[in-house]
Amino acid sequence: MRPSFLILLVVLAAACRQKPDAATLTPEERQQYLQHGKEITQAAFKTLSGELKHAILVEQSIPNGIRTCSQKAGMLTDSLSRAYHARIKRTSDKVRNPANALDEAEKLVWADFVRQHTAGQKPAPRVSLLNDTTVAFYAPIMLKPLCMKCHGTVGQTIDTADYRLIQSLYPDDRATGYKAGDLRGMWSVRFPRTLSGQ
Ligand code: HEC
Repeated sequence: MRPSFLILLVVLAAACRQKPDAATLTPEERQQYLQHGKEITQAAFKTLSGELKHAILVEQSIPNGIRTCSQKAGMLTDSLSRAYHARIKRTSDKVRNPANALDEAEKLVWADFVRQHTAGQKPAPRVSLLNDTTVAFYAPIMLKPLCMKCHGTVGQTIDTADYRLIQSLYPDDRATGYKAGDLRGMWSVRFPRTLSGQ
């Protein structure tokens, strides 16, 4: 093979690698979607925990907090989803609201998050291509002491009367028995692949 032909091959191979690949995210895309996902979930967390803190710390009422969560969690994530042109969801293997259950793609990521958490690592936010046109972002949701009022142990951190209210709204509730610091769930955001690359 002549050296000039070899050089041409190397140049061509490099050029091909630069082209956005339909099957994977480019490093730039990865960076942008990670950033975008973090912004969205931080905004959603701020709104949700702001409402919760108001009910619990200002109104001093866990029942108001429960109603806030049950009436507003879906609404808030829906309006943020519209504002950010993304689908924002909170999910877990032990859900309070069955509408938040893991889908098939989420189950795989969740298993990985659990494995990392069990090994003593904090799962890092991550992005992946769900299909040609959709990007998925995932980030862990950890429990803080305040969360124990509704996700801890009934009769200990959860007041029995408060739990009756939770059960009247969520007869299939599975989201108790946790400790502060536990991995409670994860954010699952999906957005169209439009930021760059395509
Ligand atoms: C005042 C009670 C209350 C407190 C405090 C509370 N939650 Fe919840 N949580 C709920 C209710 C009610 C739902 C169901 C919301 C819905 O219908 O989507 C829920 C749902 C969730 C979900 C979605 C998955 C599921 O089980 O349906 C996650 C994740 C979650 N909570 C995490 C937290 C974290 C983290 C904290 C602390 C920062 C917290 N919660 C504090 C009442 C509470």
